Amino acid sequence: MHPTLNIAVKAARRAAGIINRASMDLDQVEVRTKQPNEFVTEVDRAAEASIIETIREAYPDHAILAEESGALGESEHQWIIDPLDGTTNFIHGFPQYAVSIAYAQAGVVQHGVVYDPTRNELFTASRGRGAFLNDRRIRVSRRIRLNDSLVGTGFPYRAFEHADAYMKMFRELTEKTAGLRRPGAASLDLAYVACGRFDAFFEIGLAPWDFAAAALMVQEAGGLVSDFAGDANYVSTGNIVAGTPKVFAQLIQIIQAHKGESLVA
Ligand code: IPD
Ligand code: CA
Ligand code: CA
Ligand code: CA
Repeated sequence: MHPTLNIAVKAARRAAGIINRASMDLDQVEVRTKQPNEFVTEVDRAAEASIIETIREAYPDHAILAEESGALGESEHQWIIDPLDGTTNFIHGFPQYAVSIAYAQAGVVQHGVVYDPTRNELFTASRGRGAFLNDRRIRVSRRIRLNDSLVGTGFPYRAFEHADAYMKMFRELTEKTAGLRRPGAASLDLAYVACGRFDAFFEIGLAPWDFAAAALMVQEAGGLVSDFAGDANYVSTGNIVAGTPKVFAQLIQIIQAHKGESLVA
């Protein structure tokens, strides 16, 4: 394993230890509301502090972009961290959340880790070297028809004003897929595309720490990732589509057909 990826894995496992211990007594976890429907707990913060400490021990000069701490330092070497992706699930004891850590050089993600502490599933990827689930190489699924596909998504809960238009798109997708799922941790949704559990995924308005590590996984597993127009702008917009090459194209077509009447514009 590349030494940089190794540090990311070490940091993710340490953070997962903090998360697992806290999950045994959720009544004791202090929850704060950041904005409607978005929560942060002391566990998010403790996990993030531990990840930053692990990275700094190895790479004191690298810059950090972390959900709870924001941007720290300046360097062409940057770590993009979501210490607990799926906080709402975590608070409720719903076992679908993960630690996500990516390393980027000059703005290009080179290594990524998504670790699910509830299942002990470690997803990793390094640019040009493939994607793995624990020690097994992973590939996107072989599905080619959207009709046969299981599609993951997240609801745009920060943009209620567009909800009706967005729901129209959901209605069409419900008819034209084998099923839509909203598990609640975007990094794992993307990792599931990488290992073939999902055939495609889309969500609007994600933050860099939600997808930095897992988008690399999808690409290294033979899948495609883009924004809603099929371009590479997802890094700035946070509007992201991912999938097997064929299913991805069909999903983008449907999203595009709703352009203008929904958030997709
Ligand atoms: C959230 C999860 C969720 C997605 C939200 C994210 P958080 O991350 O990834 O699936 O729908 O947009 O903010 O806040 O739990 O780290
Ligand atoms: Ca959050
Ligand atoms: Ca997140
Ligand atoms: Ca988070």
